[in-house]
Parts: sequence; structure tokens; C-alpha cells
Amino acid sequence: MTDTEDFLTATRTFYDTVAEDYAGHFGDHLADRPLDRVLLGGFAERVGTGGSVADLGCGTGVATAHLASLGLSVLGLDLSMAMLGVARREHPGLRFGQGSMLDLPLADGALAGVVSWYSIIHTPDGELPRLFGEFHRVLAPGGHLLLAFQAGEAPLRLDRPWGRPVVLDFHRRRPDRMAELLADAGFALGSRTVRPADEARGESVPQAFLYAHKPA
Ligand SMILES: C[S@@+](CC[C@H](N)C(=O)[O-])C[C@H]1O[C@@H](n2cnc3c(N)ncnc32)[C@H](O)[C@@H]1O
Repeated sequence: MTDTEDFLTATRTFYDTVAEDYAGHFGDHLADRPLDRVLLGGFAERVGTGGSVADLGCGTGVATAHLASLGLSVLGLDLSMAMLGVARREHPGLRFGQGSMLDLPLADGALAGVVSWYSIIHTPDGELPRLFGEFHRVLAPGGHLLLAFQAGEAPLRLDRPWGRPVVLDFHRRRPDRMAELLADAGFALGSRTVRPADEARGESVPQAFLYAHKPA
């Protein structure tokens, strides 16, 4: 098995195992995070209603549903069939599909927008150029990208969450480094937002949000 297959298998196994726990614990995690909704709203405004958007690593579909509520035509895509099962159950009117962000089942230039909401966090550093290259490939010229991730340096290893027999690394990243990698992939950075950890909601590190576009 290659290193890429290793971390994809570990990620899929982890989320297939904890999908119902995750759904029960996080529910609608955007409901009480107003800044996050503002950033998704700004993204939706930039995209407009003319093209398709993908929520990559959509998990249980929380951001997918929010984007749809803002009028976007959105497809949720995830590695984990169990997370997709929850997404389809909770949001029966929306479109979801299975696939890897590193090898997207989408044509070049197919999308007006890509959202990756806390889904780059399991991709090892060495695979990020390929990942951002895929985001760039599937976006049309002028297309929009919004990333959310935990800011920081050291990864967090979650071992046996909710008592389940799985382990996975959650990478925290320096926003400046992510911005450099986006530029290397051909994106133009539009905004970088970092908010403090919302400890009341279980966050232990600041949260980072990068908006970028693929130059026309
Ligand atoms: C922390 S959860 C976030 C889920 C969702 N975006 C949300 O905000 O609730 C990370 C999700 O990213 C997915 N994921 C991670 N790496 C992926 C990849 N390479 N391709 C597709 N999905 C991936 C996982 O399966 C998981 O559902």
C-alpha cells in the first residue's frame, strides 16, 4: 500500500466508524458560529447562482446544506460512505457522492466554486500540493475556493474517540504556509481570516479560513 493509500484508508476507516457519533456530537455546527456563516455567505455571494459548487470532504453535509440554503447548486463529496449515509438521511433533497479529493471525479474547469470545510486536515503535508492542484484543476477560470482548518503547528492524534477502536491525525496548519501553497498551485489569495478558539464549543486552537480564486 502506498503512503497515499495509507492515509486515505485510515481516514475512511475512522469516519466510517465514528459517523453516527460525529453526527450526534457536532449536529449543525454552523448554527452557533456566526463568523463561519458570514464567510460561507461571502463565498456564496462571489460565486453567484450561475455555476456548480462542490463541498469536498462534506462529511454529514452541514456546510453543503448551508450552501444550498444560500441558493447555490451544490454537490457534497466525501471518502466515507457512513458519513455520506448520514448526509443523505439528514439532507434528502441534496446531492452527495463518494470520492477522494486527491483524484476528483470531475472534469477540468467543471466548477464555479470549491469549499473544503475542515477536510484538508487529514492530508499529510507532502500531499497538499497535489490536493490544491486538484482544486485548481476542477475550478473554471475565475472560480472560487474557501478553506477552513485549525491553525497551529503540531498535529492532534485522536485515539479511540467515543471509545471506538480507531486513531487518526488531525493536522493543524500555519495559515501563511497554506496561503503559500495555494499561490504555488496557481490561486490568488483574497482573504485570510483567523478567529480565536471558541472554547465553549470544544475548540482548543484558533480557526483559519482562506478565500482564494483561480485567476480568469
Ligand atoms: C472533520 S470532517 C469535516 C466534515 C464536514 N466538512 C463538516 O464541516 O462537518 C472531515 C471530512 O473530510 C473527509 N475527507 C478527508 N480527506 C478526504 C479526501 N481525501 N477525500 C474526500 N473526503 C475526505 C472525511 O471523510 C470527513 O468526512
